[in-house]
Amino acid sequence: MIRKNISNAPQIIYEVDLNLDNQKLIETIEEHRKLYPQGEVSNVHAWMSSYKTHRINNNFDPFIEKILQAVDNVRESNPDNFCNLSKITYNVTDFWALIYDNGDYTDEHNHFPCTWALAYYAYADKDSSPIKFFFNKYKSLRIKPRSGMLLLWPGSLSHSVPHTRGKRIAVSANLMVREFGK
Ligand SMILES: [Fe+2]
Repeated sequence: MIRKNISNAPQIIYEVDLNLDNQKLIETIEEHRKLYPQGEVSNVHAWMSSYKTHRINNNFDPFIEKILQAVDNVRESNPDNFCNLSKITYNVTDFWALIYDNGDYTDEHNHFPCTWALAYYAYADKDSSPIKFFFNKYKSLRIKPRSGMLLLWPGSLSHSVPHTRGKRIAVSANLMVREFGK
């Protein structure tokens, strides 16, 4: 028999201030949207690009590189939470861009079996809705995005985005461990 884990121990979510060139990133996302206005159909009820955007538009490469560097910095700053591994490299399994306008939202979902999921907010209006994480049936956490915020969380952690009023422009990725060092 498989029992559902009812522990209320929070899974770790990292919040990082990351200084990317947000203007340039927003331009890159908007140019991409012009090329692919239809976007991907998913649990995201907002415009989102293909899950494989990193494979079709290399203008995102410098941003992905800096985000991966930030993920590495998170490991270095929190060694106990990463089994004190000396090195971890990741495959970027998926990478996509998102533009939420008034009324857009995302259903509850998770990114299992990916190791980490992340979102970087290039722009978030003051009245942009939070991202809501669900630890179990009774416990959740809302985090309000800010322009320049990177969020990193375990891929199995469920989350949603309630209907937003304000605009938000973001990129997201799924990471899988490729290699690690003792
Ligand atoms: Fe998600």
